[in-house]
Amino acid sequence: MITCAIVGATGLVGSTFLKVLEEKNLNIDEYVLLASKRSKGKVIKFLGKDFIVEELNEHSFDNNRFNFALFSAGGDISKKYSPIAAKNGCIVIDNSSAFRMKSDVPLVVPEVNIEKAFENNGIIANPNCSTIQAVVILNALKEYGIKRVIYSTYQAVSGAGHKGIVDLEENTSKKFPYKIVNNCLPHIDVFLENGYTKEEVKMIEETKKILNDDSIKITATCARVPVMNCHSESINIEFRDEFDILEIKQKLNLCDGIVVLDDIAKNIYPLNTFANGKDEVFVGRIRRDFSVKNGLNIWCVADNIRKGAATNAVQILEKLIERRLGN
Ligand code: A2P
Repeated sequence: MITCAIVGATGLVGSTFLKVLEEKNLNIDEYVLLASKRSKGKVIKFLGKDFIVEELNEHSFDNNRFNFALFSAGGDISKKYSPIAAKNGCIVIDNSSAFRMKSDVPLVVPEVNIEKAFENNGIIANPNCSTIQAVVILNALKEYGIKRVIYSTYQAVSGAGHKGIVDLEENTSKKFPYKIVNNCLPHIDVFLENGYTKEEVKMIEETKKILNDDSIKITATCARVPVMNCHSESINIEFRDEFDILEIKQKLNLCDGIVVLDDIAKNIYPLNTFANGKDEVFVGRIRRDFSVKNGLNIWCVADNIRKGAATNAVQILEKLIERRLGN
C-alpha cells in the first residue's frame, strides 16, 4: 500500500501535480489533498473521483500516514511541515527553495542526477524552475568542459502563482512591483545586498550543486516578462574544449527530455505557445559565440509549471516508487 499527500493541491503547481499524476497513473494506492484552512472541504475531481481537501496541520502526517508527499505551498509551509512529515517516515519532494542548498538534501533533476534522490534523509528538493530547464541542457554538453555560463531569462507570470496571472490578465500590480503589462521587470524574488536578485543567485548556486561542479563560473540576469506561461532563456556557454556545432545539435537531439527546434531558414525556434503544456525542454538558435574561444549560444523554452515544477517532482516520485517496488 503506497500513500501520497499533495500539499498545496489547490495552487497552480499543486493542481498541475494532479494533472501530471493522472497522466502518469503511478502505482499509488491512496492520495490525500491538503491546502490551507481556506480550502478545507473543497471538492476536487482527481482520477475520476471526488477528493475533499483537508486542512494542513501539525497532525496531518501522524502515525506514518504517508509514504510520500509532494509540497508546493510556499517556503514557509515547507520549512514548517516538511520536517514533520519526514519525521513521520514520509519522503517529501519539496518544490520550494527552503531546503535546496542544504548539504544533506538532494537537489534533483531526473535527467541529470536521479541517483542523488535515493540518498535522501526524508526531504528531496525540486530545483528552481529556470534552473531545471538550463541544467538539462548543460548536462547534455558537459563533456566539452563547461568553464563559464551566462544566463539571461525571460520568465512567465505563472511562475509567481495565481496572483502573477491575475496581474497580467487584469493589468494590475498586486503581485509585481509594477504593472507587468507592457513591461519587462528585471526583478524576480527579492534584491540581495550584492545587487543580485534571489532568483539569480538560486540559478547560479543550484546549477553548481546539480551538476556537482563548483568550478563553473556562472552569472545570471532574470527578468519577468508579460507572457502567461513558459520560461525562455538565453544561455551562453564557454567550453574548455573545442566543439563541432553539428555534433552539439546531435547530442542535444539524442538527449532524454530535450527537443531541438532549430531551422532558421523556416523560422523554426522554440516558442512559449508551443512549449505550453509539454514536458520537454525545447532548444533552438544553437550557434557559435564568435566573441570567445569555444563559445556557444542557445535559446531554450520550457513549461515552468510542468517541467519547471510539477513534472520534475512527479518524475522523481516515479523513480522512487519504481525503486521501492523493485522495478
Ligand atoms: P489555498 O488555496 O488553500 O490558499 P499558488 O502558488 O498558486 O498561489 O498556490 C499556493 C498553494 O499553497 C495553495 O494550494 C494554497 O492553498 C497553499 N497554501 C497557502 N498557505 C497555506 C497554508 N497556510 N497551509 C496549507 N496550504 C497553504
